[in-house]
Amino acid sequence: MSKAKIKRYRCAECGAISLTWSGRCQTCGGWGTLFEEKEEDLPGRPRESYAKKITLSEVGEIRRFPTGIDELDRVLGGGWVEGGVVLLGGEPGVGKSTLLLQSAISMAEGGKKVLYVSGEESPSQVAMRAKRLNARDGNLFLLCTDDIDEALQAAGDVEFLFLDSVQTMRDRDEGGWPGSPLQVRVVAQKCIELAKALGLPTVLVSHITKSGQIAGPKLLEHMVDVVLFFGGDKTSRFRVLRSEKNRFAGCDEIGIFEMTERGLAAVFDPSKVFWNEMALSEPGVAMGVMLEGTRPLVSEFQALACATPFMYPKRTARGVDLNKLHLLLAVLERRANLSARNFDVYVNIVGGISTKDPGVDLAICMAIASTITDKPIPRDVCFLGEVGLSGEVRPVARAALRIREAERMGFKKIVMSRYEKGEKSCNIKQIGVESLKEAVRMMLS
Ligand code: TYD
Ligand code: MG
Repeated sequence: MSKAKIKRYRCAECGAISLTWSGRCQTCGGWGTLFEEKEEDLPGRPRESYAKKITLSEVGEIRRFPTGIDELDRVLGGGWVEGGVVLLGGEPGVGKSTLLLQSAISMAEGGKKVLYVSGEESPSQVAMRAKRLNARDGNLFLLCTDDIDEALQAAGDVEFLFLDSVQTMRDRDEGGWPGSPLQVRVVAQKCIELAKALGLPTVLVSHITKSGQIAGPKLLEHMVDVVLFFGGDKTSRFRVLRSEKNRFAGCDEIGIFEMTERGLAAVFDPSKVFWNEMALSEPGVAMGVMLEGTRPLVSEFQALACATPFMYPKRTARGVDLNKLHLLLAVLERRANLSARNFDVYVNIVGGISTKDPGVDLAICMAIASTITDKPIPRDVCFLGEVGLSGEVRPVARAALRIREAERMGFKKIVMSRYEKGEKSCNIKQIGVESLKEAVRMMLS
């Protein structure tokens, strides 16, 4: 007797399985994300290439290929990887296509065969951009299509595949519009399979949602090897490339670019970008040294406190987590007697960079303290330190490196935790403080 086939539905968003179809996934609440699971989707079938077991010593070295852009190599940990699939996300207009095309042009000039598939632009649009980026005729192949099978067919005899973008491609055998969870998953799955089968380094450009997440199912980020985010304030020329996930290297390096008339250029002295040297000594400005990956960056933190007309004062943070701002305001009020209760508070990092580094807490607190008291901080002073809930100033990671950077940028004094070891070889005056209150008293009274 043959077994009756049971239909199963899988949520493209969270992967939950359901035996009945419904318009909404019961697990994650996503609308229109349940799709019938095909037999070939079912787990449990080992891929042929992995079917034979091997010892660790039989596994070959990872082959890397320079991207032709040093900052991109730095973020990727040494270049594209054989068979590695990279997802590149970012706001529209930030420069994703420009970055990829620049890498494609550079590699093609080095003799590599690169296929750039665009589902968003016409050949003349891509060619126009390529011309602007000084491309010469050679090994760079263009294909403008939204059909994933056509794109993958064309990728059979090239060495690199760039797909711009995963949300505009569609598989004609599946339902749904391009960009729907099912289509995104299927398109990505096909690209990954080809990449692994041919050892083809592949990059998938991805749109992001209004809240800054990769558009499409969360599964997409699990499926690929590397997730890169290209960000930055579009009103400024500077762009920051970060990796959120990297199966082949660490995730802590960032790449800093400037958008110029001729494409993206590396920024060699990032500290200068995030520091407006020309500004006068105004209340609400404090300098700090943040650490991004292995790079110390001198950055300018700005705060503005303004009497509020509202019952609940407004707090706005750009470049800093809003919860962090709430926390630092609470510490300032309870531990340094500086209340912002009657003020709207705005905090910003100059240059459009954002950071999660706790080593800049003290600089943020000092910028807020300076605007509340309306007293400027001398321009030759820089701050370094994490601020705890009891108002203590704590040592930071890689302090010596940051102190040297502050000295290189011309600061005369650096205020930091008393318990910091410091850097003896520097001439910059290193001032240790126990608490935030002490730092405020020293600089603003
Ligand atoms: P683009 O790479 O198309 O962004 P995305 O693919 O992320 O949507 O373009 C980014 C912006 O950069 C666009 O507004 C035009 C601008 N640009 C320059 O300023 N200089 C250049 O050389 C290029 C190619 C683009
Ligand atoms: Mg684009």
